[in-house]
Amino acid sequence: MKYASKLKKSDIRGKRFLVRVDLNIKNSDELFRLDAVIPTLSLLLKKETEKIIIVSHRGRPGSAKRTISKKMKEVSLEAFAPLIAGKTGEAVDFISANRITALVREVENSDARIVLVENIRLFSGEEANDPSFGRILASCADAYVNDAFASSHRAHASISAITKFLPSYAGILLEREMTRLDAMLRNPRRPFVLVVGGAKISDKLGIVRMFQNDADKILVGGAAANTCLVAQGFPVWRSLYEPKMVREARKIQKKNVFLPVDAHVFEEAILDIGPETARFFAEAIALAKTIVWSGPMGLSEKRGFEKGTRAIWSAILANKDAEVVVGGGETIASAKLIPNFKSKISKRKNIFLSTGGGAMLDYLGGKKLPGIEALKKQKNRK
Ligand code: 3PG
Repeated sequence: MKYASKLKKSDIRGKRFLVRVDLNIKNSDELFRLDAVIPTLSLLLKKETEKIIIVSHRGRPGSAKRTISKKMKEVSLEAFAPLIAGKTGEAVDFISANRITALVREVENSDARIVLVENIRLFSGEEANDPSFGRILASCADAYVNDAFASSHRAHASISAITKFLPSYAGILLEREMTRLDAMLRNPRRPFVLVVGGAKISDKLGIVRMFQNDADKILVGGAAANTCLVAQGFPVWRSLYEPKMVREARKIQKKNVFLPVDAHVFEEAILDIGPETARFFAEAIALAKTIVWSGPMGLSEKRGFEKGTRAIWSAILANKDAEVVVGGGETIASAKLIPNFKSKISKRKNIFLSTGGGAMLDYLGGKKLPGIEALKKQKNRK
C-alpha cells in the first residue's frame, strides 16, 4: 500500500488530488470526522497541490433523489464548505452538480484550490461501484487519496472502483486508524468485552456473529438488541427493529451475548437500556482488559434517553487499565454527555477514538475492507 504521508513535494506539487473523506456527520456541529481529515488536506496544501477535490457521502439519500430538496438538508454536504475553509485557510467551492459530466466540468472550471462535491451517493454509479462512473470521477484528478476509513467497508465507486484509474494512496487518517487497530489486534488482553448498539441493525448483527468466538462478552443495546429480543419471543411494540433480520438474530443466541434485561420505553418504543442493564454492562466493562464499543445504547441525542450511553462512557473512563477502542460517528458524538470529555481523555493513551463504526468493527473482526484491499492492489502502479 502507498501512503500519502510518504509523498514528497515533487510528487504533489501542481497535481490535483481527489480525496475521499467520510463526512457522514449527523449534526454539522459535531466535527470529529472533519477534524480527523484536516492533516491530509494540510499536507497536500503545504506540498503545493494544485487542487483538492473532496468527495464524501452523508446519510443514505439514495440515488433516485438526484437533487437535494430543502427537506433533505441533513444529507447535503454544503454546510461543510465554510467549515473546511475555516480549518484550512483556503477558499472552498461547493459543487452541487447532479450529473457526473457536469460535476467534472464544474470542478475543472473552479479556480478554488479546494472544491467540495455534493453527496456522492446522489449518483447511481456510486453505490453500484460502477467502473465507468469511477473512471469519469477519476478524470478530474491526477491522484486519489482514501482518507475515509469509516467508509472503507463499502465497495462503492469513490472508495473502490476509482482506484483502478488513478495512482492511489492511503491518507494520514486511514494510516493512523490501521496502525492503532493493528496494534490492538496483535495483543487483545482478556477479558475482551465488545459493546454494540446504534441503529444500523443488519451491520451490527453481522458483527455480533463475527465476534461470537473471539469476545468474552458481547453487550448488545440499541436497535440490534430489539431484533434479538424479538428473536427470543419478547415484545418490542413500536421499537425500531428489522423483521427481516429476526432469523439471523436467532443464530446468535449464545452464552456470551447479553441483551438488555430492562428498558426505557416511551410511547411503546424502547429508546434506551434500563438501569439494571446499564449496571450489568458497566460491571462487565469494569473487569475488561480490552473494550471495543460502537453504537449508542439508545436515542442518546434526545434528553431522557441518554442514560444508558452515558453509563457506558462512564464505565469506560473509570477503567484505567483496559485497552479501549470506541468508534463511529454517533458514538463519538455522544461523548458530549460526559462533562470535560476532552480533558478527561487527553492523557489516556490506551483509549483510541476511531472515526469508523461498522468499518472499525469489520477491521477488528478480520474482514477485508474493500477500500483497503483496493489500495493494496495499487502496489505496482506508478
Ligand atoms: C458510517 O457512518 O459508518 C459510514 O459513514 C458508513 O455509512 P453507511 O453505513 O451509510 O454506509
